Amino acid sequence: MKFAFSEISIPKRGSLAVAIYADKAFSPTAEVVDKKTKGALSRALETSRFTGKQGDFLEIAAPSGLEVSRVVLFGLGDPEKLTTTDMETLGGSLVKRLNTAGARSVTVILDELNAKEFKTNEAAASIAGGAMLGSYRFRKYKTDIDEAAEPTLARMTVSCKGSATARKAFADIEALNEGVFLTRDLVSEPANELYPESFAGRCLELSDMGVHVEILDEAKMQRLGMGALLGVGQGSRRDSRLVIMQWNGATTKKAGKKPLAFVGKGVCFDTGGISLKPGPGMEEMKWDMGGAGTVTGLMKALAGRKAKVNAVGVIGLVENMPDGNAQRPGDIVKSMSGQTIEILNTDAEGRLVLADALWYTQDRFKPEFMIDLATLTGAIIVTLGHENAGLFSNNDALSEQLFAAGKAVGEGVWRLPMSEAYAKQTKSPIADLQNIGTGGRGAGSIVAAEFLQKFVNDTPWAHLDIAGMAWSKADKPITPKGGTGYGVRLLDKFIRDNYEGK
Ligand code: BES
Ligand code: MN
Ligand code: ZN
Repeated sequence: MKFAFSEISIPKRGSLAVAIYADKAFSPTAEVVDKKTKGALSRALETSRFTGKQGDFLEIAAPSGLEVSRVVLFGLGDPEKLTTTDMETLGGSLVKRLNTAGARSVTVILDELNAKEFKTNEAAASIAGGAMLGSYRFRKYKTDIDEAAEPTLARMTVSCKGSATARKAFADIEALNEGVFLTRDLVSEPANELYPESFAGRCLELSDMGVHVEILDEAKMQRLGMGALLGVGQGSRRDSRLVIMQWNGATTKKAGKKPLAFVGKGVCFDTGGISLKPGPGMEEMKWDMGGAGTVTGLMKALAGRKAKVNAVGVIGLVENMPDGNAQRPGDIVKSMSGQTIEILNTDAEGRLVLADALWYTQDRFKPEFMIDLATLTGAIIVTLGHENAGLFSNNDALSEQLFAAGKAVGEGVWRLPMSEAYAKQTKSPIADLQNIGTGGRGAGSIVAAEFLQKFVNDTPWAHLDIAGMAWSKADKPITPKGGTGYGVRLLDKFIRDNYEGK
């Protein structure tokens, strides 16, 4: 789909979308259109349920007095109260309606909104951004495409005052969305196609955009003492990898500053290992690399919009398989930190991968902070469902920044407690740590976070458990079902608001 921006004028072809506010109040352009069509809008409103609240749509076919093939009315409710996410949702919903109707192009007209949260031309860019996010499809393996059901909408023009600014804002949003799309692509790939080596290859492609990419193979990780990560991968025919991606976009003044670090769990497939998972639903474990997918998409977004920060993304890539050489329950491994770990359940593997990835990141980069993302526990889905990621942190300021960014972009996080009482559960009688808690099913997500914290010193750190967020079975306006790309927009906003231009 192509996007364009223009000053306000009634188009001569395609579909025209105009706003109606709460209680059927006409926007200035709706007023003009109603006059030109000798009251077609007023008549249509009389015979429908449309009131002008957010989410209301009404289509009017080829009204006389206009050259366009269709007028779509969209409700905006009280325009002063609109948020950026409302505009994105509008964009996504509009695309869906227009594709159902078979429209090929649309001009969306946005009169001055006087909203508190944004300028109207920024809102225009958000509508296009939402439309772009909602248009994503993962179809590379589909050869039996039904032409009659294909999306028809090929072009969206958003018209507003000061459209040059909208166009500029959209360029950044587009770069961000390309990052989200990379994450969605990676998460959607099946594990026979996306395994540690091929995932690392996808990361290497970011070199063209100026990302510095290093790939550590098993021999290198062995030398670094990464026994925890390597133990998880040892039952797989596919070799493990650690990928380090650096984006150095800070202005020279800040060039020497500590980088922002993002660490991702990249379990390309999680069978559970010898502690094998039940069969039904196991196919979902192809997206157990969601944390690594988000980190990779974020690096692409930062490079794409040339963010003025130094950021490093580190992802631990493994495949957790049962095999003659697989790790056994009861095995004891030594992590890069020197701490030994008794493996009591080979299905609690994400924390083992992160243990070495976190330690490596902290040790090598001495970052400003570390944020890790992982589809770590089923328990977080019991706690928070699919509405928020679990947030665990040793730092209140960092937590608040993440919470605010999540709220602003509609990718929520909710902080859960951590304390010594939970941490105790990770002590093993015969090694330093054990990889599952002693409390049975109680507080599984917190105990997992406590385990991770054993590999963090006093670096500000936050852990996002995204097991409930990386994949969606439901179609939503800006997130079609499948890989969601959760976290890319959240972290981009978090970086933008707190670490750029300072
Ligand atoms: N990858 C899973 C967690 C998961 C479950 C993600 C469902 C997405 C959907 C993780 O490796 C795992 O197996 N965790 C175990 C931990 C347990 C053995 C302590 C779990 O959640 O059951
Ligand atoms: Mn597992
Ligand atoms: Zn897992």
